[in-house]
Amino acid sequence: MCKFILFTLSFVVICTSVAQGFTPKECYECFTHASWEDCVNKTIVQDCGLGDDMCIKGKMTFTKNSRADQIFFKTCANENECTTYEKDGAQAPTCLDKKRQGYSVDCFVTCCEDDLCNSAVHGQVVSVLLLLLPCAQAAFHE
Ligand SMILES: *[C@@H]1O[C@H](CO)[C@@H](O)[C@H](O)[C@H]1NC(C)=O
Repeated sequence: MCKFILFTLSFVVICTSVAQGFTPKECYECFTHASWEDCVNKTIVQDCGLGDDMCIKGKMTFTKNSRADQIFFKTCANENECTTYEKDGAQAPTCLDKKRQGYSVDCFVTCCEDDLCNSAVHGQVVSVLLLLLPCAQAAFHE
């Protein structure tokens, strides 16, 4: 039983990594001024366009005259742009704009490569581990 699960699992992993080379990437997409919770509530799955080969997730804060505005977002992104903004969030176009308008900006983005990797929680990893746990136990008792 466990050998079957392990076999199926490795088959699925291999197939999805091969298929990823041919299908458009999928990323979570949301945008809000409110909070991460609100962003998650509004999340859709987006098929990324050609050249958008990463998923991005970010939070930007703009402050002027002690009034703050925030943006929480997730979407598809171009790899070069995303890794540039990941190193220095202030390079992101929205942040550059706000800076020019005299706001102080605080911008952070993270990038990742797998389908739907820009989620808030690491649910996939946990569910795989839960699936493997009984297998590990069975292996000990064999
Ligand atoms: C998100 O959705 C849940 C369930 O519908 C709701 O209870 C919660 O208030 C929502 N949160 C926000 C920030 O809109």
